[in-house]
Amino acid sequence: MKRDCLKNPDRLPLVAPSILSADFASLGEECEYVLNECGADLLHIDVMDGHFVPNLTMGPALVKCLRERLPDACLDVHVMVTDPGQYIEPFADAGADCLTFHIEPALDTHAGAGMAPLSEGYDVREMAERVRANGMLAGLALNPPTDVSTVLPYVEAFDMFLVMSVNPGFSGQSFLSDTLSKTKAIRAALRDDQRLQMDGGLSPANASQAREAGCDVIVAASAIFGLPRTERPGAVSELRGS
Ligand code: DX5
Ligand code: ZN
Repeated sequence: MKRDCLKNPDRLPLVAPSILSADFASLGEECEYVLNECGADLLHIDVMDGHFVPNLTMGPALVKCLRERLPDACLDVHVMVTDPGQYIEPFADAGADCLTFHIEPALDTHAGAGMAPLSEGYDVREMAERVRANGMLAGLALNPPTDVSTVLPYVEAFDMFLVMSVNPGFSGQSFLSDTLSKTKAIRAALRDDQRLQMDGGLSPANASQAREAGCDVIVAASAIFGLPRTERPGAVSELRGS
Protein backbone atom coordinates (compact mmCIF):
# COMPACT_ATOMS: atom_id res chain seq x y z
CA MET A 1 0.00 0.00 0.00
CA LYS A 2 1.33 3.42 -0.85
CA ARG A 3 -0.30 6.79 -1.07
CA ASP A 4 0.83 7.57 -4.62
CA CYS A 5 -0.10 4.18 -6.08
CA LEU A 6 -2.37 5.68 -8.75
CA LYS A 7 0.51 7.71 -10.16
CA ASN A 8 3.37 5.33 -9.38
CA PRO A 9 1.94 1.82 -9.23
CA ASP A 10 4.16 -1.07 -8.22
CA ARG A 11 1.72 -3.38 -9.92
CA LEU A 12 -1.30 -3.20 -12.16
CA PRO A 13 -4.18 -3.67 -12.05
CA LEU A 14 -4.88 -2.02 -8.74
CA VAL A 15 -7.78 -3.15 -6.58
CA ALA A 16 -9.86 -0.40 -4.97
CA PRO A 17 -12.42 -1.57 -2.42
CA SER A 18 -15.38 0.80 -2.27
CA ILE A 19 -16.21 1.36 1.38
CA LEU A 20 -19.88 1.84 0.51
CA SER A 21 -20.49 -1.80 1.44
CA ALA A 22 -18.30 -1.79 4.56
CA ASP A 23 -19.71 -2.00 8.07
CA PHE A 24 -19.90 1.71 8.85
CA ALA A 25 -20.00 1.01 12.58
CA SER A 26 -16.48 -0.48 12.29
CA LEU A 27 -15.17 1.55 9.41
CA GLY A 28 -11.61 2.09 10.63
CA GLU A 29 -11.06 -1.61 11.22
CA GLU A 30 -12.76 -2.52 7.95
CA CYS A 31 -10.40 -0.22 6.03
CA GLU A 32 -7.27 -1.38 7.89
CA TYR A 33 -8.14 -5.00 7.29
CA VAL A 34 -8.74 -4.64 3.57
CA LEU A 35 -5.53 -2.65 3.04
CA ASN A 36 -3.22 -4.46 5.46
CA GLU A 37 -4.50 -8.03 5.39
CA CYS A 38 -6.20 -8.41 2.01
CA GLY A 39 -3.67 -6.81 -0.32
CA ALA A 40 -5.95 -4.03 -1.58
CA ASP A 41 -4.15 -1.01 -3.02
CA LEU A 42 -6.37 1.97 -2.22
CA LEU A 43 -9.76 2.96 -0.82
CA HIS A 44 -12.58 4.13 -3.09
CA ILE A 45 -14.89 6.57 -1.31
CA ASP A 46 -18.32 7.11 -2.86
CA VAL A 47 -19.77 10.54 -2.19
CA MET A 48 -23.46 11.03 -3.08
CA ASP A 49 -25.54 14.16 -2.64
CA GLY A 50 -29.11 12.85 -2.99
CA HIS A 51 -29.51 14.99 -6.12
CA PHE A 52 -27.19 13.75 -8.82
CA VAL A 53 -27.97 10.25 -7.55
CA PRO A 54 -30.81 9.08 -5.31
CA ASN A 55 -28.73 8.32 -2.22
CA LEU A 56 -26.78 10.07 0.52
CA THR A 57 -23.46 8.76 1.77
CA MET A 58 -20.33 10.42 3.10
CA GLY A 59 -18.31 13.60 2.90
CA PRO A 60 -15.06 15.39 3.79
CA ALA A 61 -15.41 14.75 7.54
CA LEU A 62 -15.22 11.02 6.97
CA VAL A 63 -12.20 11.39 4.66
CA LYS A 64 -10.48 13.44 7.37
CA CYS A 65 -11.03 10.65 9.91
CA LEU A 66 -9.71 8.02 7.49
CA ARG A 67 -6.65 10.16 6.72
CA GLU A 68 -5.85 10.47 10.42
CA ARG A 69 -6.21 6.76 11.01
CA LEU A 70 -4.52 5.66 7.75
CA PRO A 71 -1.82 8.23 6.99
CA ASP A 72 -0.26 6.12 4.20
CA ALA A 73 -3.45 5.03 2.45
CA CYS A 74 -4.38 6.27 -0.99
CA LEU A 75 -7.85 7.81 -0.64
CA ASP A 76 -9.67 7.95 -3.96
CA VAL A 77 -12.84 10.04 -3.75
CA HIS A 78 -15.60 9.52 -6.34
CA VAL A 79 -18.05 12.40 -6.15
CA MET A 80 -21.50 11.73 -7.57
CA VAL A 81 -22.81 15.22 -6.95
CA THR A 82 -24.47 17.97 -8.96
CA ASP A 83 -21.90 20.62 -8.08
CA PRO A 84 -18.46 19.08 -7.53
CA GLY A 85 -16.77 22.49 -7.57
CA GLN A 86 -17.91 23.33 -4.07
CA TYR A 87 -16.23 20.21 -2.65
CA ILE A 88 -12.73 20.44 -4.16
CA GLU A 89 -11.10 22.36 -1.33
CA PRO A 90 -12.92 20.50 1.46
CA PHE A 91 -11.78 17.12 0.14
CA ALA A 92 -8.23 18.37 -0.44
CA ASP A 93 -8.09 19.74 3.11
CA ALA A 94 -9.45 16.44 4.42
CA GLY A 95 -6.54 14.55 2.84
CA ALA A 96 -7.96 13.02 -0.36
CA ASP A 97 -5.39 11.91 -2.95
CA CYS A 98 -7.64 11.79 -5.98
CA LEU A 99 -10.97 13.41 -6.81
CA THR A 100 -13.11 11.97 -9.61
CA PHE A 101 -16.19 13.91 -10.70
CA HIS A 102 -18.77 13.25 -13.42
CA ILE A 103 -19.07 14.67 -16.92
CA GLU A 104 -22.90 14.67 -16.89
CA PRO A 105 -23.54 17.86 -14.89
CA ALA A 106 -21.35 19.71 -17.38
CA LEU A 107 -23.39 18.53 -20.37
CA ASP A 108 -26.50 20.16 -21.75
CA THR A 109 -28.48 16.99 -21.30
CA HIS A 110 -28.07 14.71 -18.34
CA ALA A 111 -28.26 10.98 -18.67
CA GLY A 112 -28.66 8.44 -15.92
CA ALA A 113 -31.20 6.89 -13.65
CA GLY A 114 -32.48 9.06 -10.86
CA MET A 115 -30.70 12.21 -11.96
CA ALA A 116 -32.50 15.46 -11.37
CA PRO A 117 -32.28 18.31 -13.88
CA LEU A 118 -29.20 20.28 -13.25
CA SER A 119 -28.17 23.78 -12.62
CA GLU A 120 -25.34 25.71 -14.05
CA GLY A 121 -22.86 23.11 -15.20
CA TYR A 122 -19.12 23.75 -15.23
CA ASP A 123 -16.05 23.91 -17.38
CA VAL A 124 -14.56 20.42 -17.29
CA ARG A 125 -10.95 21.45 -17.91
CA GLU A 126 -11.10 24.27 -15.42
CA MET A 127 -12.47 21.88 -12.81
CA ALA A 128 -9.63 19.41 -13.46
CA GLU A 129 -7.10 22.22 -13.07
CA ARG A 130 -8.66 23.24 -9.76
CA VAL A 131 -8.47 19.67 -8.49
CA ARG A 132 -4.79 19.49 -9.44
CA ALA A 133 -4.04 22.93 -8.01
CA ASN A 134 -5.34 21.57 -4.71
CA GLY A 135 -2.78 18.76 -4.78
CA MET A 136 -5.03 15.92 -5.88
CA LEU A 137 -5.13 13.78 -8.99
CA ALA A 138 -8.12 14.51 -11.21
CA GLY A 139 -10.51 11.86 -12.51
CA LEU A 140 -13.46 12.07 -14.91
CA ALA A 141 -16.38 9.63 -14.72
CA LEU A 142 -19.22 8.79 -17.08
CA ASN A 143 -22.48 6.97 -16.49
CA PRO A 144 -23.69 3.96 -18.49
CA PRO A 145 -26.03 5.96 -20.75
CA THR A 146 -23.42 8.64 -21.48
CA ASP A 147 -21.61 8.37 -24.79
CA VAL A 148 -17.84 7.94 -24.69
CA SER A 149 -17.46 10.80 -27.17
CA THR A 150 -18.34 13.21 -24.35
CA VAL A 151 -15.14 12.46 -22.40
CA LEU A 152 -12.61 11.77 -25.17
CA PRO A 153 -11.96 15.48 -25.82
CA TYR A 154 -10.65 15.73 -22.23
CA VAL A 155 -8.19 12.87 -22.38
CA GLU A 156 -5.15 15.09 -21.82
CA ALA A 157 -6.68 16.93 -18.88
CA PHE A 158 -7.09 14.04 -16.43
CA ASP A 159 -4.98 11.54 -14.50
CA MET A 160 -7.75 8.97 -14.51
CA PHE A 161 -11.06 8.06 -16.15
CA LEU A 162 -13.86 6.08 -14.53
CA VAL A 163 -16.35 4.06 -16.56
CA MET A 164 -19.47 3.39 -14.49
CA SER A 165 -20.65 -0.14 -15.13
CA VAL A 166 -23.87 0.34 -13.14
CA ASN A 167 -26.09 3.39 -12.83
CA PRO A 168 -24.62 5.09 -9.78
CA GLY A 169 -26.33 5.27 -6.42
CA PHE A 170 -26.07 1.88 -4.79
CA SER A 171 -23.76 -1.07 -4.32
CA GLY A 172 -24.78 -4.58 -5.25
CA GLN A 173 -26.18 -3.96 -8.74
CA SER A 174 -25.48 -6.13 -11.79
CA PHE A 175 -22.56 -5.36 -14.11
CA LEU A 176 -23.62 -3.74 -17.40
CA SER A 177 -21.33 -5.42 -19.90
CA ASP A 178 -22.11 -3.07 -22.77
CA THR A 179 -20.02 -0.46 -20.94
CA LEU A 180 -16.88 -2.47 -21.82
CA SER A 181 -16.77 -0.90 -25.28
CA LYS A 182 -16.28 2.50 -23.63
CA THR A 183 -13.42 1.15 -21.53
CA LYS A 184 -11.72 -0.08 -24.70
CA ALA A 185 -12.21 3.24 -26.47
CA ILE A 186 -10.81 5.27 -23.56
CA ARG A 187 -7.88 2.90 -23.05
CA ALA A 188 -6.90 3.35 -26.70
CA ALA A 189 -6.61 7.09 -26.10
CA LEU A 190 -4.69 7.05 -22.79
CA ARG A 191 -0.99 7.36 -22.00
CA ASP A 192 0.69 4.72 -19.86
CA ASP A 193 0.66 6.97 -16.79
CA GLN A 194 -3.11 7.49 -16.88
CA ARG A 195 -5.38 5.13 -15.00
CA LEU A 196 -8.73 3.71 -16.09
CA GLN A 197 -11.26 2.52 -13.51
CA MET A 198 -14.41 0.51 -13.89
CA ASP A 199 -16.88 0.79 -11.04
CA GLY A 200 -20.06 -1.17 -10.43
CA GLY A 201 -21.03 -4.80 -10.37
CA LEU A 202 -17.48 -6.11 -10.60
CA SER A 203 -16.73 -9.49 -9.05
CA PRO A 204 -14.21 -12.32 -9.46
CA ALA A 205 -16.61 -13.73 -12.08
CA ASN A 206 -16.45 -10.76 -14.45
CA ALA A 207 -13.34 -8.71 -13.51
CA SER A 208 -11.33 -10.37 -16.27
CA GLN A 209 -13.63 -8.73 -18.83
CA ALA A 210 -12.81 -5.33 -17.35
CA ARG A 211 -9.08 -6.05 -17.25
CA GLU A 212 -9.06 -7.32 -20.82
CA ALA A 213 -10.87 -4.17 -21.93
CA GLY A 214 -8.03 -2.09 -20.48
CA CYS A 215 -9.27 -1.28 -16.99
CA ASP A 216 -6.34 -1.04 -14.56
CA VAL A 217 -8.17 0.00 -11.39
CA ILE A 218 -10.86 -2.46 -10.36
CA VAL A 219 -13.41 -0.94 -7.96
CA ALA A 220 -15.59 -3.31 -5.95
CA ALA A 221 -17.81 -2.88 -2.92
CA SER A 222 -20.13 -5.83 -2.39
CA ALA A 223 -17.73 -8.36 -3.95
CA ILE A 224 -15.29 -7.59 -1.11
CA PHE A 225 -17.15 -6.18 1.90
CA GLY A 226 -20.14 -8.43 1.26
CA LEU A 227 -18.01 -11.44 2.16
CA PRO A 228 -16.93 -12.70 5.58
CA ARG A 229 -13.54 -11.19 6.45
CA THR A 230 -11.63 -14.43 5.94
CA GLU A 231 -12.79 -14.60 2.32
CA ARG A 232 -11.82 -11.05 1.44
CA PRO A 233 -8.10 -11.62 0.70
CA GLY A 234 -9.06 -14.24 -1.89
CA ALA A 235 -11.60 -11.94 -3.49
CA VAL A 236 -9.04 -9.13 -3.80
CA SER A 237 -6.58 -11.53 -5.51
CA GLU A 238 -9.24 -12.80 -7.88
CA LEU A 239 -10.33 -9.30 -8.80
CA ARG A 240 -6.70 -8.47 -9.58
CA GLY A 241 -6.36 -11.66 -11.59
CA SER A 242 -3.34 -12.89 -9.66
C1 DX5 B 1 -22.03 3.09 -7.20
C2 DX5 B 1 -20.67 3.41 -6.63
C3 DX5 B 1 -19.82 2.20 -6.64
C4 DX5 B 1 -20.38 1.11 -5.81
C5 DX5 B 1 -19.93 -0.21 -6.29
O1 DX5 B 1 -22.79 4.19 -7.33
O2 DX5 B 1 -20.01 4.41 -7.35
O3 DX5 B 1 -18.48 2.50 -6.28
O4 DX5 B 1 -20.06 1.26 -4.45
O5 DX5 B 1 -20.61 -1.24 -5.61
P1 DX5 B 1 -20.58 -2.72 -6.15
O6 DX5 B 1 -19.16 -3.11 -6.37
O7 DX5 B 1 -21.25 -3.51 -5.09
O8 DX5 B 1 -21.36 -2.71 -7.44
ZN1 ZN C 1 -17.69 4.69 -7.02
